[in-house]
Amino acid sequence: MSARSIALILLIALQYLSPAPAASDQASDERALREFYDLEEGKRLYGQYCGFCHGEGGKGKAYNLVSPPPPDLTAPAVQRKSDADLAKVIHEGEQGTAMGAWKWTLSEKEKQNVLLYLRQLAR
Ligand code: HEC
Repeated sequence: MSARSIALILLIALQYLSPAPAASDQASDERALREFYDLEEGKRLYGQYCGFCHGEGGKGKAYNLVSPPPPDLTAPAVQRKSDADLAKVIHEGEQGTAMGAWKWTLSEKEKQNVLLYLRQLAR
């Protein structure tokens, strides 16, 4: 038997021997991948729209430009708030402050992804 056909037989045998990935493994891999891309998108959107005032790490920037100044988004006082509360601020803004409404700029999904990124910043 040639080395080539032995290799071929081994290859076929290996396919039978290696167990197929369990369905639940595959589902959790897909979820991890989805979360990874959502987070990446949140980070990109944050850099594009929010970083100017809130700073690269969410710690606040533009202090001397707007009053009241942007809060530290990683602080417990902010992170304690529910997803619904923070999403509402992002959606509607805070009247009388530099925090504008993003409802015309960001889709529901994009707001959720930015929020996901804000949670990640505080970890
Ligand atoms: C022009 C400056 C500016 C930009 C741009 C901006 N913010 Fe803000 N943001 C502020 C200020 C100022 C406040 C504080 C408002 C207040 O004191 O009530 C704030 C408040 C917030 C809060 C509320 C924190 C709390 O304690 O409730 C969140 C959440 C937030 N911003 C997220 C974002 C996100 C996400 C973006 C980008 C999509 C963004 N901001 C863009 C200035 C800005």
